[in-house]
Amino acid sequence: MLIGVLAVLCVAGAAIADTPANCLFEDIRGTWTFYETERSGDNTLSCDTMGPVVYVKNFTLDFPNTVMDELGHQGTWTLVWNQGFEVNINQRSYFAWSYYEGNFISATSYCDRTFTGWSRDATVRNWSCFFGNKTTEVPPRETKKMSIPSAMLHQTYKNDHQMIERINGKQSSWRAKAYPEHEKYTVEEMMQRMGGPGSVLTNPPRPAPATSEQRARVSLLPENFDWRDVNGVNYVAPVRDQASCGSCYTFASLAQIESRVRIATQNVRQDVFSTQDVVSCTPLAQGCAGGFSFLIAGRYAQDQGVVAEECNPYTGKDDACVTDSTCSRTYVSDYEYLGGYYGACNEELMLQALVENGPLAVAYAVYDDFGNYEGGIYHHTGERNEFNPFEYVNHAVLLVGYGVDEATGEKYWGVKKSWGDAWGEAG
Ligand SMILES: *[C@@H]1O[C@H](CO)[C@@H](O)[C@H](O)[C@H]1NC(C)=O
Ligand SMILES: *[C@@H]1O[C@H](CO)[C@@H](O)[C@H](O)[C@H]1NC(C)=O
Ligand SMILES: *[C@@H]1O[C@H](CO)[C@@H](O)[C@H](O)[C@H]1NC(C)=O
Repeated sequence: MLIGVLAVLCVAGAAIADTPANCLFEDIRGTWTFYETERSGDNTLSCDTMGPVVYVKNFTLDFPNTVMDELGHQGTWTLVWNQGFEVNINQRSYFAWSYYEGNFISATSYCDRTFTGWSRDATVRNWSCFFGNKTTEVPPRETKKMSIPSAMLHQTYKNDHQMIERINGKQSSWRAKAYPEHEKYTVEEMMQRMGGPGSVLTNPPRPAPATSEQRARVSLLPENFDWRDVNGVNYVAPVRDQASCGSCYTFASLAQIESRVRIATQNVRQDVFSTQDVVSCTPLAQGCAGGFSFLIAGRYAQDQGVVAEECNPYTGKDDACVTDSTCSRTYVSDYEYLGGYYGACNEELMLQALVENGPLAVAYAVYDDFGNYEGGIYHHTGERNEFNPFEYVNHAVLLVGYGVDEATGEKYWGVKKSWGDAWGEAG
């Protein structure tokens, strides 16, 4: 079934570990040659291996998101975080991961090449494989990270009661508490729950400046808004639990589609979609090691569609793909980063898209103190967790509303997370 669900995503569009590639805007901007195989596949085409090249095309990717071919046809492109890019031109859409060698501890990114990626036409029926080589060289980029010793990663996570006391002692905007249920996880598993270690951009793009038109539109929006209660009607599916798998991007993505379907059908359809199908079945993400909502709520849901939870129930592991092939799939009709490309988003666009279109998959930075959030308006307190080594990570969640605190006048976002409904304010 094709349902007109426009997926709109903000900021990183989501999060995490993903690949260790670190390719920035200026690395990718420029002229590329795309080498493409015969256009004879359908959406089951595997591009694990490339096949003979049939088409060679030159595309010039320019600021901020325009792409042009040799004949002057225009299209659009976007980075996907710092790890790959999507090009849409001449009724075809191309996506590939940027090339790298190595791993999260030590990697070399070759930003003037891609891995073999996927190309398909606008109807999503006519598929081929491709890779890109940039016509100008980009110096390889080394990335090295301090790794947390594996003995520490494998130790059991412990609530830091002193940190919780310090958080509650130094501020009253939000309350922290211990979650004994977290102590069933190792430190590594807790980090995966929060997004997983991996590529955090050191200098993510700043929000795009708001135009006066954007500000004017936002001034017409209600002061408080929440998709859990729109004139008494809830359009947000129940909170789920990702367990110890770094799959927050999948939960945020499918939660977005679940809400958009509820809105589009006035709650006639109340789907819960299979997160395991995404974790196990698509090369557009890295399973339990992370991924991006842009590629899942967007590209995967348009290319392959999503299925009901029963078609591949969640295990929270990188299991083989065993989705029931007789299940019907739900497709999104279109998707984009807010503002049209990665880097164009801002608060005004988020507010407007949230109210006009529905909940949004977003991503944010998670620090040591966040796991113990109990309620209130969260601010990072700077408190460190003494028992559990922790790296700052990036976490995908679903933005469902916003408001203004009555007592303090402070503005806040309301977010649905995937740690079960016993965490925080009912999840
Ligand atoms: C796919 O599109 C190409 C043109 O881009 C066309 O030549 C080819 O016949 C199409 N293949 C199928 C299976 O429709
Ligand atoms: C594409 O660019 C390369 C490198 O600049 C050039 O050698 C080639 O002739 C171009 N191909 C086409 C079809 O324009
Ligand atoms: C693309 O670039 C890689 C790495 O520089 C090179 O090995 C390969 O031959 C190039 N492919 C083509 C078709 O030019």
